[in-house]
Amino acid sequence: MIIEPRIRGFICLTAHPEGCAQNVKNQIEYVKSKGKINGPKRVLVIGASTGFGLASRIASAFGNQASTIGVFFEKEPSEGKTATPGWYNSAAFENEATAAGLYAKSINGDAFSNEIKEQTINLIKQDLGQVDLVIYSLASPVRKDPKTDILYRSTLKPIGQKFTDKTVDFHTGKVSEVSIEPANEEEIANTVKVMGGEDWAMWINDMKQAGVLADGVLTLAYSYIGPEVTEPVYRKGTIGQAKDHLEATAFEITNSLESINGKAYVSVNKALVTQASSAIPVIPLYISLLYKTMKEKGLHEGCIEQMQRLFQDRLYSGKEIPTDDKNRIRIDDWEMRSDVQEKVKELWAIANTDNLDKIGDLAGYKNDFLNLFGFGFEGVNYKADTNEVVAVLSIKI
Ligand code: NAI
Repeated sequence: MIIEPRIRGFICLTAHPEGCAQNVKNQIEYVKSKGKINGPKRVLVIGASTGFGLASRIASAFGNQASTIGVFFEKEPSEGKTATPGWYNSAAFENEATAAGLYAKSINGDAFSNEIKEQTINLIKQDLGQVDLVIYSLASPVRKDPKTDILYRSTLKPIGQKFTDKTVDFHTGKVSEVSIEPANEEEIANTVKVMGGEDWAMWINDMKQAGVLADGVLTLAYSYIGPEVTEPVYRKGTIGQAKDHLEATAFEITNSLESINGKAYVSVNKALVTQASSAIPVIPLYISLLYKTMKEKGLHEGCIEQMQRLFQDRLYSGKEIPTDDKNRIRIDDWEMRSDVQEKVKELWAIANTDNLDKIGDLAGYKNDFLNLFGFGFEGVNYKADTNEVVAVLSIKI
């Protein structure tokens, strides 16, 4: 079929298999161009199909020839209906990894469930024995608690008071004011339940019990801090509470891994266009101003640049892992540089529909958004008939 983007708000209903494959190839080329990473050899990535998780998988496999198992929750394609992009990304990743002689297997299903944890552990036992690195990179609006079967939904709301500020519809470039009512206690608790650290700790606990974590294992989850303008909806909002919980969980996990010399870290990453971040009000306007500023200063990075730098310069540099006073790894250092933040703050004050095209990188935002779904890549013929029914080589469901 000929596959075109069908965009609805902050999602796109279609994805292009060859564009997704191009995206994966570009990321692999980038990692290879940066040389060898003296990293782990056996890696599990939970949330491996898009965004930071996919980039972590690529950095592991193509930076250090690691064997990788990827867990994700994606829709497979059917005749006339495209898959979600993470499906096509994973198909392309496995093709590339296999062609390079690397072990790569994938599990598609709900990572919050006991079944998927069990299947993953069994696959590790069967094929790898143990893993040296576990990346936890889930971004989900819902979580079913496997103990109670209760379904929890996260919300993106401020806490304590109503929030009003600018936002942008990145498709039209229209800057408008948005107001969001504060969350109630239940919404806060539910968001922590979905995006906090409980499930991460469950994974690590189950894996430790099963003996599939190697001595000296590292486990890593991703967080975000960001600037003052996004604080009410992000770091001081419901999602921020979940991130506080995630960060606190890292300490608990490290304690639980003492007997095998393991450590848990949270890495604070840069704001980037992903499926998860496009859904958060205010963030797209901030990102478009940030992109413009960071590109002008030659500091811009995407997911793969961030993860490559995280692995090479922070996790596996041969030196002690540098952290801030809360034991977090900071790979958002360039985003948070004072000259970058001062400039973005200046731009934020004057941003409107008429000037955003000039003072912000709306085009870059839109392009990155299309790229998430495999559209807008050079070298892909979008007019050509394309086979939408693409299989992931190794999938276990
Ligand atoms: P993403 O939406 O690109 O990726 C989410 C991944 O989770 C996908 O692989 C998806 O298949 C998987 N997933 C979702 N629900 C699942 C489930 N129930 N079972 C199995 N897999 C499931 O998200 P992104 O942006 O890469 O986020 C990953 C982490 O990075 C999140 O913790 C996010 O808060 C954090 N982060 C994101 C930033 C951003 O600007 N995008 C900045 C800093 C941190």
